[in-house]
Amino acid sequence: MQITEIIRKKRDGESLSEAELNFFVDGFTGGKIPDYQASALLMAIFINRLSVDETFWLLQAMLNSGEVVDLSMIPGIKVDKHSTGGVGDKTSLILAPVCAAAGVPVPMISGRGLGHSGGTLDKLESIPGFRVDLDLDHYKRLVGESGLCLIGQTKEIAPADKKIYALRDVTHTVENKSLISASIMSKKLAEGIDALVLDVKTGQGAFMKTQDDAKELAEMMISIGTKMGKQVRALITDMNQPLGSHVGNALEVVEVVELLQGNCTPEQQDCLELSLLLAAHMIVLGGKADDLDQAREIAESTIRDLSAFAKFKEIVAKQFGDPSALEDLNKLPTADHVETLTAETDGYLGMLDALAIGKGCVLLGAGRKTLEDVIDPAVGVIVRKKLGNPVTTGDPLLEIHYNDANKLKEALPLFQSAIKIDPDPVEPPSLIKK
Ligand code: URA
Repeated sequence: MQITEIIRKKRDGESLSEAELNFFVDGFTGGKIPDYQASALLMAIFINRLSVDETFWLLQAMLNSGEVVDLSMIPGIKVDKHSTGGVGDKTSLILAPVCAAAGVPVPMISGRGLGHSGGTLDKLESIPGFRVDLDLDHYKRLVGESGLCLIGQTKEIAPADKKIYALRDVTHTVENKSLISASIMSKKLAEGIDALVLDVKTGQGAFMKTQDDAKELAEMMISIGTKMGKQVRALITDMNQPLGSHVGNALEVVEVVELLQGNCTPEQQDCLELSLLLAAHMIVLGGKADDLDQAREIAESTIRDLSAFAKFKEIVAKQFGDPSALEDLNKLPTADHVETLTAETDGYLGMLDALAIGKGCVLLGAGRKTLEDVIDPAVGVIVRKKLGNPVTTGDPLLEIHYNDANKLKEALPLFQSAIKIDPDPVEPPSLIKK
């Protein structure tokens, strides 16, 4: 087989065989196919696309490039959730302990922030001492003992994805639904799951801007996951405004603790609602409820009786974090300064641009501009009004938590451009699109 012929076929819009996709993935991961040929093939795939079958074969090849964790010795149906990325999306930190407290084991291998969107690992690392770099034996032990474990991708998990993703990142070949699907599903299936709930975001702050694109991506991931023998469900949800009230790593942990303690402000209602809905789907897939209503009641009960909060503290302690920081939130990193943007007129909040807020938070230091950047866990924003809320002149809209005045200066125009007040009532976007 020749890589040049495989590139030519895809360039000319022909289909690739399972053997050809295997040849590419094995050859590139093993260093036999150079970056320039892999880049050419990725661009040809980007332009001429892959069918569901080709995407499935690519997924299989990427999955088999590394270890597929065997969790069959742990009783129960193992279920995880994956989100395609958003701003203020801390649902993983809520639903993982909720499901574990409900008896559904959650093996969760997560990512770091990507562009303007936050990452579960960065949020967890804002808890003093918390370690996400545990090895797979440790991971298996904690899923067995505590019913959950939250770690980062190890070198054994889908190494082909790591290499291919790095090349896609610098060749502008990320936003292709087949490449995204194979990338996400190869990592998720390697975790040892039986079932998966996908949260595909759509809107200004999402990678999929339109609902049609989000639906196509969801359908592709469901198709290839089902072909792998897994139960897969997807929700398409809104990412026009940040989810909940807090954006930024330690700030998001604060919101998680508030919600797990049963305290929810009106601005946090969407985050709680989505967390409970995703958890309910996971509880049904995990075989602990017959339908969504029953599962929702179980999820809510783990918050009411604080068993989900207890589970979160348990896993924080087991992953070397300080659980007392979840009781005394002053022990989490806090920023030195707060600048508040207030309403300059009366009306209704008509824009709270998640993309601009996410980018502003990256400039404050909450995310990375280059791989080497070090995250400032304390910085971010607290949203005091959500889309459609009535506002009066002088009302606080955005609280900006910052440590470096120069970074604030850079980020401020983005935050200012994120907000618009309309004179007439504004219909808030629906949270669950499909
Ligand atoms: N997240 C991933 O893990 N892979 C992609 O290709 C895009 C987002």
